[in-house]
Amino acid sequence: MEKLQVLSFWIIMVTWTVPGLCNQTNIVLVVTDDQDLTLGGLTPMVKTQKIIANMGVTFTNAFVTTPICCPSRASMFSGQYQHNHQTLNNSVSGGCSGPYWQQHVEPQAWPALLHQAGYTTFYAGKYLNQYGYRKTGGATHVPAGWDWWIGLVGNSRYYNYTLSVNGTAVFHSDDYLTNVIEAFGLEFLRQHHVTEKNFLMVLAPPAPHAPFTPAPKYKDHYKNVTAMRTPNFNVPVFRDKHWLLQMPPSPLPDSMLPELDRVYRQRWETLLSVDDLIESMVMKLESLGLLDKTHFIVTSDHGYHVGQFGLPWDKRQPYEMDIRIPLMMRGPGLPHRQMDTHSVLNIDFAPTFLAMADLEAPPWMDGISFFPLSKQNADDGTGMDRKFLIEYQGEGSRKTVSPNCLYDEADTLSNCVPEQMCKCQDARNNTFTCVRHLKPHITPHLMSSYNFLFCKFRDSENFTEAYDLNVDPYQLNNLALSLSPAVENKYMSWLEHLKSCSGLSCQLHHDSDAQSSP
Ligand SMILES: *[C@@H]1O[C@H](CO)[C@@H](O)[C@H](O)[C@H]1NC(C)=O
Ligand SMILES: *[C@@H]1O[C@H](CO)[C@@H](O)[C@H](O)[C@H]1NC(C)=O
Ligand SMILES: *[C@@H]1O[C@H](CO)[C@@H](O)[C@H](O)[C@H]1NC(C)=O
Ligand SMILES: *[C@@H]1O[C@H](CO)[C@@H](O)[C@H](O)[C@H]1NC(C)=O
Ligand SMILES: *[C@@H]1O[C@H](CO)[C@@H](O)[C@H](O)[C@H]1NC(C)=O
Ligand SMILES: *[C@@H]1O[C@H](CO)[C@@H](O)[C@H](O)[C@H]1NC(C)=O
Ligand SMILES: *[C@@H]1O[C@H](CO)[C@@H](O)[C@H](O)[C@H]1NC(C)=O
Repeated sequence: MEKLQVLSFWIIMVTWTVPGLCNQTNIVLVVTDDQDLTLGGLTPMVKTQKIIANMGVTFTNAFVTTPICCPSRASMFSGQYQHNHQTLNNSVSGGCSGPYWQQHVEPQAWPALLHQAGYTTFYAGKYLNQYGYRKTGGATHVPAGWDWWIGLVGNSRYYNYTLSVNGTAVFHSDDYLTNVIEAFGLEFLRQHHVTEKNFLMVLAPPAPHAPFTPAPKYKDHYKNVTAMRTPNFNVPVFRDKHWLLQMPPSPLPDSMLPELDRVYRQRWETLLSVDDLIESMVMKLESLGLLDKTHFIVTSDHGYHVGQFGLPWDKRQPYEMDIRIPLMMRGPGLPHRQMDTHSVLNIDFAPTFLAMADLEAPPWMDGISFFPLSKQNADDGTGMDRKFLIEYQGEGSRKTVSPNCLYDEADTLSNCVPEQMCKCQDARNNTFTCVRHLKPHITPHLMSSYNFLFCKFRDSENFTEAYDLNVDPYQLNNLALSLSPAVENKYMSWLEHLKSCSGLSCQLHHDSDAQSSP
């Protein structure tokens, strides 16, 4: 027994010290669609918590820089803020899978760089909302850098969808998409190259996006679960929040709450299939002896709200429910059961995955690598005290405003339907930029901590919202009118800087007036 241990110790030491390619690891990234962190979105993923979180690191302060699918995914792949990658909304006209993206950003996204460095690459699932349609090149367009490409045409759905399988459109009517993604993943791992060459897998299931359809075996699994009644659940909104939230009805009538409960519960049910997918990938990697050479990351494209501030269900808001994401990672050398409080952003994924492949992040990337974790320990203004930008361009579209909702300004509103009491979920003037400022406590006695949000809306009122999350975690108390001029100016100057930052200039290093706590 002892001899065996000594032997395996030396085997580990030898493989550990071989220079060059040995530093590269396989990467498996699971990106869910619309999965929240703050409303218990991870609760149904019990197996994932056991085999990823408990065997690795959980990032407790992970954020997206824009709370909407296509722009956020564009940030995840490019490592850039949306003002730099120019995907501004979910439409082709707003850049989603549009010409600028396909010609200038996609070919130098991190998966393409990994592919150039010799990785075998695999993608399965939802990509960008406008991917695969005729106007964006159809299913024959396979983004640069992918060996295996199983891209969902259009937005998330569970049945009746088209996949681009290596550039060929294949329609599925009755196959549950999450299960199909899992099957492709296993097929990829059955090829013998995976033991010979490094690989990247991205698995992007539709769950828990609308229409929230669980797999048959999980239907009604959470029959008795109800939407989380957070302190900001269905609170009436008065003049202290931006225009969209003041729209009637506020709060939602009690008659609508069972519908919120149903949405919440079915979201959980769809995630059970993702839990199965993750388990089966981990088991397969383990049986191939590859688990110890693989970084396995689980995250979401942004958060979600169900009922908070009287909003029915959606994202698109600057509040915690929408901008915080689950993020957990296991991999070689990583500690187990570790909670990491550094601020980590979707724009950091690109430099991080490049670092896992021993590659430098190119200068146009706005994020910073959080790998290896030890690199962040220095308080260099990037990890522990971080100010970052949240930007969102509100959508307005006649197509998504139901005629039964009787709004004149149909072009400036969107997602207004009778099933949600005609409470619109978006509007052109739901356009904002915010600074999120986070500096967690390291040692309770030594450090002042910050946990602040400062937002400016581009509407007729130049509406401002500001929250001190240290004392007001549910964002009930807008401080905009009570900020001292010094504090307001500080946040305004950070905001102005970040709105046009790029590359290195997106890291605001020195907190010159850290003493003037807001
Ligand atoms: C691999 O990692 C070791 C130790 O961290 C480092 O010294 C070496 O330069 C790395 N190799 C490459 C090719 O980057
Ligand atoms: C997709 O293309 C790759 C690379 O040519 C090939 O190895 C793989 O078998 C193809 N996958 C499918 C599902 O056709
Ligand atoms: C797929 O679409 C067809 C035609 O609209 C419909 O009849 C069928 O029920 C759908 N299948 C599923 C599984 O939703
Ligand atoms: C769910 O609720 C029903 C009706 O209220 C009750 O009979 C049943 O025992 C509950 N099931 C669970 C698992 O709590
Ligand atoms: C998306 O953005 C483009 C460019 O700003 C705009 O023309 C278009 O109307 C937007 N789409 C929606 C649905 O708001
Ligand atoms: C926002 O846009 C709507 C629709 O055009 C308009 O009615 C409303 O007055 C605007 N509110 C603000 C604060 O700009
Ligand atoms: C909003 O800000 C713009 C630009 O800073 C300014 O010109 C305008 O007067 C402001 N409007 C209001 C209502 O404060």
